[in-house]
Amino acid sequence: MDMTKVPTRQGNYNVTSYEELREGFDWEHVKKEFSWYQTGKVNAAYEAIDKHAENPQTKDKVALLYSSPDREESITFEQLSKRSNQVANVLKKYHVEKGDRVFLFMPRSPEFYASFFGILKVGAIAGPLFEAFMEQAVRDRLEDSEATMLITTPDLLERVPVNELPALKQVVLVGAEDLETGKYINFDKEIENASASFDMEWVDLEDGMLIHYTSGSTGKPKGVYHVHNAMIQHYATGKWVIDLKNDDVYWCTADPGWVTGTSYGIFAPWLNGVTNVIRGGRFTPESWYETLDKYNVTIWYTAPTALRKFVSAGEELVKQYDFSSLRHIMSVGEPLNPEVITWGLRVLDLRIHDTWWMTETGAMLIVNLPCMEVRPGSMGKPIPGIEAAIVDNEGNKLPPNQMGNLAIKKGWPSMMRAIWNNPGKYESYFINEWYVSGDSAYMDEDGYFWFQGRLDDVINTSGERVGPFEVESKLIEHKAVSEAGVIGKPDPERGEIIKAFITLNPGYEATDELLEDIRLFVKTDLSAHAAPREIEITDSIPKTRSGKIMRRLLKSWELGLPTGDTSTLEE
Ligand code: WT7
Repeated sequence: MDMTKVPTRQGNYNVTSYEELREGFDWEHVKKEFSWYQTGKVNAAYEAIDKHAENPQTKDKVALLYSSPDREESITFEQLSKRSNQVANVLKKYHVEKGDRVFLFMPRSPEFYASFFGILKVGAIAGPLFEAFMEQAVRDRLEDSEATMLITTPDLLERVPVNELPALKQVVLVGAEDLETGKYINFDKEIENASASFDMEWVDLEDGMLIHYTSGSTGKPKGVYHVHNAMIQHYATGKWVIDLKNDDVYWCTADPGWVTGTSYGIFAPWLNGVTNVIRGGRFTPESWYETLDKYNVTIWYTAPTALRKFVSAGEELVKQYDFSSLRHIMSVGEPLNPEVITWGLRVLDLRIHDTWWMTETGAMLIVNLPCMEVRPGSMGKPIPGIEAAIVDNEGNKLPPNQMGNLAIKKGWPSMMRAIWNNPGKYESYFINEWYVSGDSAYMDEDGYFWFQGRLDDVINTSGERVGPFEVESKLIEHKAVSEAGVIGKPDPERGEIIKAFITLNPGYEATDELLEDIRLFVKTDLSAHAAPREIEITDSIPKTRSGKIMRRLLKSWELGLPTGDTSTLEE
């Protein structure tokens, strides 16, 4: 098998030629497919749910196929429309207004999705939080966004410092026993009494829809702000890249606390009116294979870290399941190893299509379409309607095969519109007309883009982005830790793992128990994925004269590489 190029396969794809789609492309053509184009009335919740619920041909179609270890449910477009109307009525009753931030902190469940659309229907901005976040992570996000309402569960409530968040007026509890009144609202009781019809709050295309927090190399997590206009690109990439068609059963494995779980776990499938599988519970290769088989999934969007686990789980396991309904697999979040693509072809007889984008970009930008030749190791080519380039630090375009900053000409439909409360940070992403991603890459002569690494200190562990500053800040809150420097260390399965270098305060002994205690401290206060897997005690943490931790130097030490320019190192 020639593994440098994987040819396209016969198929009735929505897009039959990349070149034809790009030629003379205009977003105006895509916009015409939305009802607001005719009516002038905008709301992404309408386009994703109510439009299909109003249509006699689609109202009884299954929108949501929900499966978790203890619950299974099929919900039609009409039912999801009504349930989200009920939530919207409850939010209205408690005075949620257009532009308010309503955060969601709960496991993936039918109530989550009804609430998500309920929030959009009243014109508020949804802020989904990853279920595994611990108190510090929750606090940072609710504080910064000044969310006025939080929808959560009694279990997760323990991690919400309700009384220390002045902006938070109301907490809605899903699945609660009798509650004291005041700040707490009983979701189930309220829904029981709420009307299933609701007058949608129409918004502007540029009105807020969603905030996702993401980590950079410095400071606290940043609120990436997206508007309803993003639906244009969610819909289009769902059609071109995912190749969604009426009869598809689609499954995106990402949690809606991350952008993949909203853009591609909510909007792309439902804007295209297809059946969407949502799976709660933990990951095991067996349970995921079972989901693919049981629901006859036709298109599957997942991450390299999961695919690598499938490869390790072995070929015998694959033979126990039937994947004959699958048409292709898609991947995002970290580099997709060429070996995984080979495995897909050999073991599943399927192509795996890599896609590149970021929380800030809101939707896919560099992709492999089903009609394209795949070059394993490459992320693919830019979607129509965007211009991608490799630029230098001044924003000048570089020629093919030269490494530099992966940049996108600003102005695509799903681009973030702000960093919440932080205009300076937002500005810092741009050089002239270019949005600069922070990824280094090159483009080959045929226009395929090849990822090389991050240009900053951001860590990508199992496809999740972790800011070293957050982990360092948490580490030094531990009574034994004096200073900390945190890096990503290459790991064959997770991409990178988090490694912390620390110095101890006087009087503390470097024991295994202490290191484990420090690790757990981060895990229980911040989140499991941000806890360092390795902690090493050193005599000092290298810093610049201005006091900045030199993580690059720590990384060189770790990897046994030359240390490069250390002229700014403090004495
Ligand atoms: C960073 C963005 C929005 C998708 C989920 C992650 C890395 C993303 C790829 C890819 C190599 C990738 C980049 C990017 N990344 N896709 N196909 N190949 N690296 O979103 O948490 O905002 O992270 O993930 O480094 O900058 P995110």
